[in-house]
Amino acid sequence: MSELSVNHLLGIKYLNKKDITLIFETADHFKEVINRSIKKVPTLRDTTIANIFFENSTRTRLSFELAEKRLSADVVNFSAGQSSVKKGETLIDTVNNILSMKVDLVVMRHPNPGAGIFLSKHVKAAIVNAGDGAHEHPTQALLDSYSIREKLGDVAGKNIVIVGDILHSRVALSNIFALKLQGANVKVCGPKTLIPKHIESLGVSVETNLRKALEWCDVANMLRVQHERMDISYFPSIREYTQQFGVNKQLLNSLDKEIVIMHPGPINRGVEITSDVADSDQSIILHQVENGVAIRMAVLYLLASKIQ
Ligand code: CP
Repeated sequence: MSELSVNHLLGIKYLNKKDITLIFETADHFKEVINRSIKKVPTLRDTTIANIFFENSTRTRLSFELAEKRLSADVVNFSAGQSSVKKGETLIDTVNNILSMKVDLVVMRHPNPGAGIFLSKHVKAAIVNAGDGAHEHPTQALLDSYSIREKLGDVAGKNIVIVGDILHSRVALSNIFALKLQGANVKVCGPKTLIPKHIESLGVSVETNLRKALEWCDVANMLRVQHERMDISYFPSIREYTQQFGVNKQLLNSLDKEIVIMHPGPINRGVEITSDVADSDQSIILHQVENGVAIRMAVLYLLASKIQ
């Protein structure tokens, strides 16, 4: 029987290519399930999952909760803003209190890079990283690659450019690991100030001219500028950023081919992407969201099967 090489999903960095293939094949099955009239399976009926979110989220949180409910797991939700964290409780105390209520699996989003890794060493439960600061967002990268595979047939050999705030983006790092593992060619594009030094050591190339990057690629994954993680200005103004690194329909129409547009959300319409691009046939943004549920069902199922 195939199983994951890991007991936690802490980052794509810890996966191998076989893990990704297994997750995608399992997601194919669950995607078929969630398109049936009865969308629920009893697979995780005896499993309890806690979603603990120390940072805001719309897509990831709803997607995990829906995935858990489609698998018939018991689900508890925790938001730091309404919890005893505000009274000074530590992360480990918080999680150990939740675990003493017999929780099997913890899905956690946290602003600190490495929070999931730290937790996995201190508590007895399988941990899924739902985004840890600017470090990794593994399920986002899995659903992104899965969506590329669905749209273009394969990820291997495809030219993918990730555009925008690479420096503060956990989506960029997880995507780079996932895409390289599957044999894609990867470029990053953005203002020099928002591209980490030595990023080439991850096997990607850097392009600061957006038109050139778009002419090269099959897929452009557009990222939001993460103002909430910036304590200084990285570019002169939003207007200048949009002029140099924003994608609009006129720019796409001037290319001699049709490329696929992706975005992990949330979108800042009119900044990194215009509405006529986000809502166009070239955009697979809502397919990414749809695929997120099947991918998260697959991840939860495969991790839960290792703890039973
Ligand atoms: N893509 C993503 O992580 O979105 P949320 O922050 O809304 O979960």
